Amino acid sequence: GPRYPQVVVLFGATGDLARRKLISGLYHLASSGFIPGCRVIGVSLDDLDADGFRAIARQALGDFSARKVSEADWQAFAAGLDYVPLSAGAPALRAAVERAEQAIGRESRRLHYLSVPPNAALPAVHLLREAGLVDGARIVMEKPFGTDLASARSLNQRLHEVFEEAQIFRIDHFLGKEPAQNILAFRFANGLFEPIWNRNFIDHVQIDVPETLGLGKRAGFYEQTGAYRDMVVTHLFQILGFMAMEPPTSLDPQPIGEEKNKVFRSMLPIQPGDVVRGQYSGYRREEGVDPDSDTETFIALRCHIDNWRWAGVPFYLRTGKRMAEGQRIISIAFREPPKSMFPPGSGVGAQGPDHLTFDLADATKMSLSFYGKRPGPGMRLDKLSLQFAMKDTDLAGEVLEAYERLILDAMRGDRTLFTTAEGIERLWEVSVPLLENPPPVRLYEPGSWGPKPVHQLIAPHAWRLPF
Ligand code: BG6
Repeated sequence: GPRYPQVVVLFGATGDLARRKLISGLYHLASSGFIPGCRVIGVSLDDLDADGFRAIARQALGDFSARKVSEADWQAFAAGLDYVPLSAGAPALRAAVERAEQAIGRESRRLHYLSVPPNAALPAVHLLREAGLVDGARIVMEKPFGTDLASARSLNQRLHEVFEEAQIFRIDHFLGKEPAQNILAFRFANGLFEPIWNRNFIDHVQIDVPETLGLGKRAGFYEQTGAYRDMVVTHLFQILGFMAMEPPTSLDPQPIGEEKNKVFRSMLPIQPGDVVRGQYSGYRREEGVDPDSDTETFIALRCHIDNWRWAGVPFYLRTGKRMAEGQRIISIAFREPPKSMFPPGSGVGAQGPDHLTFDLADATKMSLSFYGKRPGPGMRLDKLSLQFAMKDTDLAGEVLEAYERLILDAMRGDRTLFTTAEGIERLWEVSVPLLENPPPVRLYEPGSWGPKPVHQLIAPHAWRLPF
C-alpha cells in the first residue's frame, strides 16, 4: 500500500462510474488493509450531506460489489466518508479536507479523483486551485481526456497551469486489467513468441470488445462521447499499444510509455472509409438522448501501424453497446503456410487461419487454434485448440480489480500503467480525419453483432467472434 494515509476527494461521487467501480474499489482496498486510515470526500452536483452520501455508497456496494460486504468493515469505511456539494464552493471543500486530515492525525497525502465527463474536468481543477488543494497532491483524470485534438491540447495546457505533470495520473482502466499486463509478460518473458510477433508471421490482429450493456443512466456522458471516444481512442488503442510495442529497455514507466508512444506515432490517421459506425435501434428513444442523435453506440474500424514490424498488417477493432455477447478478446491471426499440399476438401483453411487469442476478461485464459489431422482414414484436417491455464488458478484472493490496482498505483505514485499527455494527444491527432468526417451511423438490432457492413470491413478475413 501507500506510505501515508490518503484523503481522497472524489468528484462525480454519485455518478455511474463512482457507484459501479470506485466506491466498491475504495471499500475493498480499505477492508483488505491496503489503505489504512483512508478517508473519502464525495463531491458532486447533488445536494447531499455526509449521511446522504453514505446511503448512496452503501446502496452502490449492494448493487455492484462482486464481493460480500461485511457490516463491520462497512461501518469502519462509512466513518471515513464525507460529502461536499459543488454548490458549497471552495472554502467548504477545503474545510472538509482539513477535517479529514485532523481525523487521521498524522502525515497524510491528498488524492483528487476526477470521475467526471470531459467538459467538467477543468472546472473541477479550478475549484481545487481555489480551495488551495494543489500543492503536494496527486490528481487522477478519467478518460476520455478531452473530446478531440484541440480540446485535449487545451486541457493539457490549462491543467499544467495548475498541476505539474508529475502530479497528474491519466487513467485508462483497461491497462489495470490483469490480462493487459499479461500481454507484456507473455511477449517479453518468453523466447517462444516474440520472434514471430511481426508482419512476417502475423496476417492481422483483432481487438474485439462487444458489450451487452446498454446506455443505462449515462445519456449525459454518452451523448458527449459515443463509442469511439468512450472505448476506442482510449481503451482499445491503449491495448493496441501493448500488443504492438517494441520491447522496452525495462518495465519502468518511462520506457514503457515511450515505446507505446512510438506505436501511436507510427499509426496512420484513421480514414472514414475504414470505419463502420452503428447505433442500436431504440437508442434515440432512451431517456436523455437527443431524438435526432448521431452518436454511435457501435464502431468497427481498420487501422495500420506503419513501422518496420507491422507495415501492411491490418488491425481490426470493434466495440459496441447492446450487442449479442459480452466479450473482450484480442486475436492474432497467423499467415497461411507458403504452399498447401493438402487436397481441396481436406479441410485445411476451412476454419480460418491459426489464431492466438487472449481473453481480456480472464487473465488465466489464452488459446491457440491450429490445424491437425482428424483421426480416421485419409487426410482430413480439423481445428485443434490449445488452452493455456495457470497452474494455480486459486488466485481469487490476490486479484485486484483494474480500478483497485490503479487507484493503489496512483496513491503510491507509480505511473507505469497510466497514459501520457503526448500519447493521448497523438491518438486524437490520428483521429482527425474520422472526427472531421464521420460516416453516417447505421442502425443495428439490439442483440446483434452490429450493422451488416462490419463484415465487408474485415473481408477477406472474418471476425473471430462469435466463437
Ligand atoms: C468504460 C466505458 O470506460 O469501460 C464503458 O465508459 C464500458 O462504456 C466500460 O462499458 C467497459 O469496462 P469493463 O471493465 O467492464 O470491460
